[in-house]
Amino acid sequence: MLDASQQLDPPAPRLPNSPLAFVLHFVRMYWPAVLGVGLLETGQSTCAILMPYAIKQIMDAVYTAQSQGSEVWTVVSTPLWFFGLLNLGLVLFSRGSGTILVMLGPALRRRIRRHLFAYLQHHSQRYFLSNFAGSLANRIAETSMSTAQVLWTTMFDFWPLAITFSVSLVLLSRVNLSLAAVLAVWVAVYVSVSFALALRCRRYAREYAAARSLVSGKIVDSVTNIMNSKLFARRDFEREYLEHYLNIEVSRARRTFWFMEGIRWFQFIAAACLMVGIVTYAIKIWTAGGMTIGEFAMAASLCLLLIEQARGLSRKFLEFFEYVGNVNDGVSVIIRPHEVIDRPEALPLRVSRGEIKIQNLDFSYTPTRPVFSRLNLHIRPGEKLGLVGFSGSGKSTLVNLILRLFEPQGGRILIDGQDIQAVSQETLRGAVAMIPQDPMLFHRTLMENVRYGRLEARDDEVIAAARQAHAHEFIMATEEKYESLVGERGVKLSGGQRQRIALARAILKDAPILILDEATSSLDSVTEHYIQESLTALMRDKTVLVIAHRLSTLAHLDRIVVFHAGEIREQGTHAELLAREGHYARMWSMQAGGFLPEVAPEAALAAVDDELETAE
Ligand SMILES: Nc1ncnc2c1ncn2[C@@H]1O[C@H](COP(=O)(O)OP(=O)(O)OP(=O)(O)O)[C@@H](O)[C@H]1O
Ligand SMILES: [Mg+2]
Repeated sequence: MLDASQQLDPPAPRLPNSPLAFVLHFVRMYWPAVLGVGLLETGQSTCAILMPYAIKQIMDAVYTAQSQGSEVWTVVSTPLWFFGLLNLGLVLFSRGSGTILVMLGPALRRRIRRHLFAYLQHHSQRYFLSNFAGSLANRIAETSMSTAQVLWTTMFDFWPLAITFSVSLVLLSRVNLSLAAVLAVWVAVYVSVSFALALRCRRYAREYAAARSLVSGKIVDSVTNIMNSKLFARRDFEREYLEHYLNIEVSRARRTFWFMEGIRWFQFIAAACLMVGIVTYAIKIWTAGGMTIGEFAMAASLCLLLIEQARGLSRKFLEFFEYVGNVNDGVSVIIRPHEVIDRPEALPLRVSRGEIKIQNLDFSYTPTRPVFSRLNLHIRPGEKLGLVGFSGSGKSTLVNLILRLFEPQGGRILIDGQDIQAVSQETLRGAVAMIPQDPMLFHRTLMENVRYGRLEARDDEVIAAARQAHAHEFIMATEEKYESLVGERGVKLSGGQRQRIALARAILKDAPILILDEATSSLDSVTEHYIQESLTALMRDKTVLVIAHRLSTLAHLDRIVVFHAGEIREQGTHAELLAREGHYARMWSMQAGGFLPEVAPEAALAAVDDELETAE
């Protein structure tokens, strides 16, 4: 009975759950491109730092030519060629790595998002109940962005700087060893102090970021509750409430920026010391005849280049920490072990008769409050079973367990003899059409929302299903008919309209097991009455579980089970239950507006029908 669209679901991607391993995992997938960028960046920074060397050679050549009275252009042509080649190299290498980056960046981010999303899809219902959709979407975006940034900062900031430092040291050491030693000490001190300062600043930066997101959170909360603030005329109050959090943000921002300003003082002073120190020392060596004029110029311009590149180092470290922190946050929230997973040997569920057996089921959401203990229920093939019980008695929970949205702590559920824990989740859910208590819709067109029940359905099939669910009428009354958008989660529709869309979806899905969890609760009695006909047609040849508070919805079913605090109190047909004068009979008498329990169900139903007719 299963169609081709319900084949085994591909397993969740395997992803490492530490930030560094996560970054490497994706970098490895693009290693040729990353290696290419690495080599080109090496070329680029080598060319850049060799410029002062080329200038030194040009100057030395010109100086020698002048002092010996020879033709300047012949002497200078080789160093000039070298200088020209360096410039050409700079252009080609930098634009080469730019080109790879244009190709690599978006592809890398797409792959990370795709994998994170695929991983996220496999999380359990419990996971999604405790993590907000918006924040998860945000984390996927942030994690992919920051993973790429970790790579870029390393490749385009740290790596070139390392090349610049080492090549300058080599060049200077060829001129004068002690000059090179001075530079080496400076570099060591500068890098370590920058690192240490960035580490200290990290705490402030984090607190500042937390204050920023707190403010956003408060604004979101306030906007979500805008109805409340309107109803209670609390606009001023909300603004003042926000003011407090804005002030916190300002003070945290100032503290962070002051600290960064302090770092800049250190950097400027260090740069000035290096410049003055190297130039003075070089003059001393030069006057003692230890270097040429060209070498002197080289030493000075190397320092200038170095200082320019090293100036933002603390900031780079700080950004790097932030990116690593973002990846860490994303990875630790999204890449947790999945709670409900298919067994490696999971088979597709084969539904031939639609029998559901619940055996000794134990379940609790939280360890202290069990919902079911040793629950047993046998739903026969093709049976239409009603489930009633007070709010909170566990009806929806039972449905969640049949759909394996949660794992029971004990016992098992069999569908046509197959343990639902041993079959693939996709085929299990493919075999059950469910209309949930509070159906949600995608912010897509009505056509797409109904078609979600069977993606390959033709337009006329979608419309036929909508007609059966009595949704066609109101859809045609909307401005763009089937092309209308329904707002986030379907907020632009009324509760009853949403339920009818969900019903149309289930009609289209036409699965062998049907579950209606308060599927008609938001409908007025008249519309419900109309829909009942379509429902009866839909239920034919299926195993059906109907949950309803309105007992008249259940009266015609094969059997009704009365739930109380996760236990089955009574069961039987409507007539049998009324005759027992127990729980069900009491509920019926209350709902039917004072009918005495002794009244025959037919009579009671007839009375309800009368009521409906008068309502019409
Ligand atoms: N995600 C959850 N986490 C913790 N407890 C939950 C969760 N969902 C439901 N519960 C608790 O489990 C119990 C059974 O809830 P359930 O939703 O199954 O009741 P119900 O019979 O469907 O009620 P209603 O008629 O109001 O829909 C309730 O006490 C409820 O508070
Ligand atoms: Mg419920």
